[in-house]
Amino acid sequence: MAPDALELVFPRRNEKCTIYFSDQLISRVPLELFSGVSSVAIVSDDIVSKLYSKQLEERLSETAKTHMIVIRHGERNKNLTTVSSVANQMSDHGLDRKSALIALGGGVVGDLAGFVASIFKRGIKYFQFPTTLLAQVDSSIGGKCAVDTKWGKNQLGSFYQPEGIFIDESVLTSLPKKELINGLGEIMKSSIIADPTMFGELESLPAKYFEMQDLRKFVRRTCEIKASIVEKDETEINLRKTLNYGHTLGHAIESASRYRLSHGKSVILGMICEAWIAYELGILEKNDFERQTDLLLKTKNHFRITPRISKKEVLAFALLDKKNTSGVIQMSLPEKIGKMHAGKNELFTSLVSKDLVARSLEKLN
Ligand SMILES: NC(=O)c1ccc[n+]([C@@H]2O[C@H](COP(=O)([O-])OP(=O)(O)OC[C@H]3O[C@@H](n4cnc5c(N)ncnc54)[C@H](O)[C@@H]3O)[C@@H](O)[C@H]2O)c1
Repeated sequence: MAPDALELVFPRRNEKCTIYFSDQLISRVPLELFSGVSSVAIVSDDIVSKLYSKQLEERLSETAKTHMIVIRHGERNKNLTTVSSVANQMSDHGLDRKSALIALGGGVVGDLAGFVASIFKRGIKYFQFPTTLLAQVDSSIGGKCAVDTKWGKNQLGSFYQPEGIFIDESVLTSLPKKELINGLGEIMKSSIIADPTMFGELESLPAKYFEMQDLRKFVRRTCEIKASIVEKDETEINLRKTLNYGHTLGHAIESASRYRLSHGKSVILGMICEAWIAYELGILEKNDFERQTDLLLKTKNHFRITPRISKKEVLAFALLDKKNTSGVIQMSLPEKIGKMHAGKNELFTSLVSKDLVARSLEKLN
């Protein structure tokens, strides 16, 4: 049976991307996507490759020469040294412009391998095979590829669309529970920015549910939401900014914690603060603010041990955000559940004072 699929079109460079959804897709990747491909490099990390590379390699070797390239797991390896090592290994294996690359792993592998695909021989065909909840519902979709430098996260990158994304929810069964929260935050965010029905479903679930592995029923819908937004605004001129909800303060909290607080937890805290700001600015109604906060707080069991974070530092990091000018912070804020505030000129950003941000952090306590 052919996997269920969702087609995306990116008019900017007339590119297409198909998202395939199916269990056990790892051993059923559609081979017709690789017709005319001379060889394939599978890029994965040292944890995921042990679990899944054999099945994918076996499947792809039915159609092309396949080479496995393994990087060390973790954000600290998402850098130019790893890019150079992967690209050199691809050249060692004789990959050329007709070759393809598959990123098999979480967001770290996806961001890095996508970046390599965008610059190897000035760009080769590539595919995403996301294996974390975050990568399935967020990072694999939309073509943002990047690596970190000593100046911070994602400082070097490109917009480069994969031709296909393979969402195989069965690979989530091996994912450590502590990784779930990162994708969970994005699922909740998607419901707040674009889907009041999904919000209602999430709201009706007991808090215990959010500690479990089985969030599959929300994966497909969250992918659809992200896909429909990035298709309309690939390079984040306006609508795509709504996906940054919770991220302005979330990134600042993550940086101030020196990355001891995960990205997902930081974004959940960021959304709680930014929802309060929207309420204070009169953009979000009290009832919707309270419902949203109640939903986000259902994840609080994931926060049993939280590092001490200095509010002063969060504020300093928030002011450093590249979107800001002259001490005023820019954010994308919700207007009601399922709808983001369009703001001036429909740019989906609002200006927020330093003082209001500081007060939202006080409230978080
Ligand atoms: N490009 C985008 O639009 C975008 C969006 C959000 C986040 N990101 C990036 O994504 C990265 C974070 O991604 P992440 O949260 O997936 O983390 P990750 O890639 O570091 O993966 C987390 C851990 O889970 C392990 N793992 C992955 N899949 C597994 C599986 N199925 N079973 C067992 N273990 C598994 C990995 O080896 C790793 O140790 C960050 O670099 C962030 O900047 C990018």
